[in-house]
Amino acid sequence: MRFFIDTANLNEIREINNLGILDGVTTNPSLMAKEGITGKNNIFAHYKAICDIVDGGEVSAEVLSTDYAGMIREGEELAEIHEGIVVKVPMTKDGIRAIHYFTNKDIRTNCTLVFSAMQALVAAKAGASFVSPFVGRLDDISTDGLDLIESINEIFLNYDYDTEILAASIRHPMHILKCAEIGAHVVTAPAKVFLDLLNHPLTDIGLKKFVEDGQKLKLH
Ligand code: E4P
Repeated sequence: MRFFIDTANLNEIREINNLGILDGVTTNPSLMAKEGITGKNNIFAHYKAICDIVDGGEVSAEVLSTDYAGMIREGEELAEIHEGIVVKVPMTKDGIRAIHYFTNKDIRTNCTLVFSAMQALVAAKAGASFVSPFVGRLDDISTDGLDLIESINEIFLNYDYDTEILAASIRHPMHILKCAEIGAHVVTAPAKVFLDLLNHPLTDIGLKKFVEDGQKLKLH
């Protein structure tokens, strides 16, 4: 399973990348706005900085246009920034057309805002490199987001699609565990969720005891 971090914050990206467990980054307009980044030059420089941190990793950069021509223009420019850029396109009629266009141009895409298995199937048929089903946002409206991951996984296996499931809107470690059991190819989660994966109270208790007993060995 590949781990992407869902943030545009360079320090958080560095922190998780330094653990040696990071395979990529997903951003979205809300995450970019949270960092206070404005203007095309600054936005592009920020994507480049992210790509440089996760050298060899994949970095989703989202188009801001909602019309086909705008998505094509923006996506082609984003793809020029760095070879790690994956153009993130919303799940709309124009978005699907744009994904088909980018696929023919060998530009990698991430179809975002996927909330149904039918949307994922259409994105796969258009040639999306990734589909991003939003698990947490479905949970928020009392619908089991993990059921969606299961359904998409079954469909993609039935037809051997190359499109990868990028489970998004991940809120806690159990989401990651369940996505791994189902077989999602990638999860994207905030830094805190990855750090939470490391924790277990018995580890803390066990380490405390080892440190105490270790002092009796008088190594130093
Ligand atoms: C996906 O790529 C999105 O950036 C993200 O996972 C959305 O998560 P949220 O529901 O926590 O905003």
